[in-house]
Amino acid sequence: MMTMHSHTPVMVREVLQLLRPQPGEVFVDATVGLGGHSVEIAPRLVPGGWLIGIDRDPSALQIAARRLEQFSGAIRVTLVHADFRELPHVLRERGLEGVNGILYDLGVSSMQLDNAERGFSFRFDAPLDMRMDSSQEGITAADIVNRWSEGDLRRLIQEYGEEPAAARIARAIVQNRPVFSTQQLAALVAKAAGRRRGHIHPATRTFQALRIAVNRELDGLQEAIEQAVRCLLPGGRIVVLTYHSLEARAVKQAFQRLSGKCLCPASIPECRCGAERLIRLLTPHALKPDAEEVALNPRSRSAQCRAAERVAD
Ligand SMILES: C[S@@+](CC[C@H](N)C(=O)[O-])C[C@H]1O[C@@H](n2cnc3c(N)ncnc32)[C@H](O)[C@@H]1O
Repeated sequence: MMTMHSHTPVMVREVLQLLRPQPGEVFVDATVGLGGHSVEIAPRLVPGGWLIGIDRDPSALQIAARRLEQFSGAIRVTLVHADFRELPHVLRERGLEGVNGILYDLGVSSMQLDNAERGFSFRFDAPLDMRMDSSQEGITAADIVNRWSEGDLRRLIQEYGEEPAAARIARAIVQNRPVFSTQQLAALVAKAAGRRRGHIHPATRTFQALRIAVNRELDGLQEAIEQAVRCLLPGGRIVVLTYHSLEARAVKQAFQRLSGKCLCPASIPECRCGAERLIRLLTPHALKPDAEEVALNPRSRSAQCRAAERVAD
């Protein structure tokens, strides 16, 4: 089986311009992955800074640790196996009341996608797993595909995959159960979805939906970003890279709410959404990778970058 340990970091130039890491500052890479962004942030914190990298994938953390070793001595580097939704706890445990910058590069890494055994991709035939944290018990894509009702599968594929053929795909899955392998699933989805214009494989959206559900990627995402903003010191910056519209919406809403924009329907006389003014938006519109980056790294094509700065209390 093919196992690759690489991931090209996305929009590095933009991320660094927005985060502006400075010597001695404390930064969190909340999705450190293979350390692609962190190896660029770390030298800017020298001397005396502190970089905290979080990931829920232990194999990613091992690689990040090796890549970041070169900075030990010049700055403090701490890698934490955790879910980024636990950020306030991770910081409190280390005696930190606030940090100068936080980066989220959401979704999966190329290493996870390209590692055949992990079952994220239909390019390889493998058991339907898709757990980012394979060190933990938890539902796999096979559990969902083989146990959920047709209606629940349809809703999942529709909502998280934004897949127009969700009903046909859900029916085909239920009729062909048990389904245990990535390519078995991809073939039956392709047959049910029918021919498509465009260049994405007809199973791409269904695989995205399963991955999001297995890893609960959208559960509490908006709240996690709002929590992260509260962990910033005045003047601290937060940058979030998203890769699909559902992630983007959660981040946009978190930023809007905390920049003082009321999200209540116009029919409500008083604000009930709790809009507060904790941040100033640094990207009124999401930034996208330029054509050169997309040509060099096609996986960057769906990236959107949003950033904000914490204002003084
Ligand atoms: C796109 S990759 C990050 C790649 C990294 N920026 C780099 O350049 O090497 C996203 C990483 O976030 C991790 N991840 C996703 N959701 C997470 C969560 N809720 N908590 C912690 N890590 C998470 C994944 O395991 C994956 O390693």
